[in-house]
Amino acid sequence: MIPLKTGSEIEILRENARIVRAILQELIRAARPGVTTKALDRLAERLIREAGATPAFKGYKGYPATICTSINEEVVHGIPSEGRVLRDGDVLSLDIGIERKGLYADAADTVVVGTPRDGALELIGVAREALRRAIEQARVGRTVGDVAHAIGAYALARGYNYAKRFVGHGIGRAMHEEPQVPNFGTPGRGPRLRPGLVLAIEPMVWKALPHERPDDEERVLDDGWTVVTPYGQPAAHVEEMVLVTADGPEVLTAVE
Ligand code: MF3
Ligand code: CO
Repeated sequence: MIPLKTGSEIEILRENARIVRAILQELIRAARPGVTTKALDRLAERLIREAGATPAFKGYKGYPATICTSINEEVVHGIPSEGRVLRDGDVLSLDIGIERKGLYADAADTVVVGTPRDGALELIGVAREALRRAIEQARVGRTVGDVAHAIGAYALARGYNYAKRFVGHGIGRAMHEEPQVPNFGTPGRGPRLRPGLVLAIEPMVWKALPHERPDDEERVLDDGWTVVTPYGQPAAHVEEMVLVTADGPEVLTAVE
C-alpha cells in the first residue's frame, strides 16, 4: 500500500519539512573544526524540541542518537560521539528526522568542514546533481524506476558508484513508507507516481576506484549502524522530501 496524503497532512508535512531544513542549516553552520559530532547531536535535539517536535531517529530500531553524522568513508548512519572531533577537510553528511503532529520529516546534506580537499566538492556536486535529476522525474505518470534510474545513471556516467542496500522511501505518518526508492532502477518499472505521494529521495555516492567493480557494495561496521564505502573513499549523501503534484515536483525541504 502506497499512502497518498490529504490536504491537511500536506500542510503539516510542509511545516515539518521547513523545520527540518532550518535545523539542518543550523547544524551546517555549527560544523566547524574542533566540534564533536556529539555536540552537533545535542544542538539538533535542542532545536527539534524547541520547534515542538520529537527526534525521529532516536530509538528507531534501537538507533542511539538524534542525527546521523557520517564522516569521509562513512556513507550513512554514522553515530555521533563525544570522541569524534571534526577536522579540517572532513566530508560530513548530516541526516536528521523529526516527528510533529503525527507526521515525519527527514532530510540530509553533505558539506566540507573547513577547507575542501581534492575531489570533495566534485563528490558533493555529483550527489546533488543526481538528486536534482531524480526530483525532476518525480512527476505524475512517471514511475519509481524513473526516479531511481536518474540517480544511478548519472552517478555511473560521472564515474561514481552508489549504495545498493540503502534506499530512499515514502514518508508521512511513518518515517519509512512504501515505496522504496533505490539509488538505481529501470525506467518505466515500479509503481506509478500519483498526486499526493511524498518521497524522501536520498542519493548516496562515492567515486569509483579504477579497480572497483560495478557490483562492489558498501558494508556495515561492527557497531551495526555505520555504513562505509567498499575501499574507504569518501562518500556523499543528500536527501530531500518531494511532493508529487499535478503541476510537478514540490521540494518540501527546499532551502529558502
Ligand atoms: N535518512 C535515513 C533513512 O531514511 C536515516 C535513518 S537513521 C535511523 O533511513 F537511525 F533512523 F535509522
Ligand atoms: Co530518509
